Amino acid sequence: MLRLAVLVSGGGTNLQAIIDNIETGSITNAGIAVVISNNQNAYALTRAADHGIEGLCISPKDYESREAFHEGLLAALEERQVDLIVLAGYLVVIPEIMIRKYRSRIINIHPSLIPSFCGKGYYGLKVHEGALARGVKLTGATVHFVDEGTDTGPIILQKAVEVEPEDTPETLQRRVMEQAEWQILPKAIDLIANGRVAVKDGRVVIQEESK
Ligand code: GRF
Repeated sequence: MLRLAVLVSGGGTNLQAIIDNIETGSITNAGIAVVISNNQNAYALTRAADHGIEGLCISPKDYESREAFHEGLLAALEERQVDLIVLAGYLVVIPEIMIRKYRSRIINIHPSLIPSFCGKGYYGLKVHEGALARGVKLTGATVHFVDEGTDTGPIILQKAVEVEPEDTPETLQRRVMEQAEWQILPKAIDLIANGRVAVKDGRVVIQEESK
């Protein structure tokens, strides 16, 4: 059983998708050990509590230095013997020490088709504003492993979503969540939990389901 930590900063609709997929059995061999938010008021913490999942607020503001915050975060993960860290709308930069310690064990959901509209400065609505400004007809979402760069780690799953002529950043964000994020993030967790994801030469290989 893979022990997950889901790191969040906001509403937690991706967290909800993970919870729902575990409860319905679409994700197997995984359970959420803890939800960690950097923001005490994140609705994601209420979602965790509603489903009997431990929720913690670990905020940089409560520590005297960035290093102390990183140590606090790592200690919480170690204490719960977490196997996979899922960044689901987590707006804090992940420290290199954590990336090294959890190499190929941290995944992130990004609301575009990487390598478009990603990297520094592309988060939240800015991603969708960028897609609309460029006039792309297709956008989507990407689940990838986290490495030392910003949105540069090996890509696990992607799903395309059509851009409609009347879209605003908000309507496009919603469609990308519904049609892509809430599907591929749980799917990626299920694949990893069932040992079907390998990284070879910096690229992800998905193994066939064993019959
Ligand atoms: C999502 O768009 C995700 O792709 C991005 O942050 C947003 C989080 O939304 N990284 P929610 O908190 O899961 O509702």
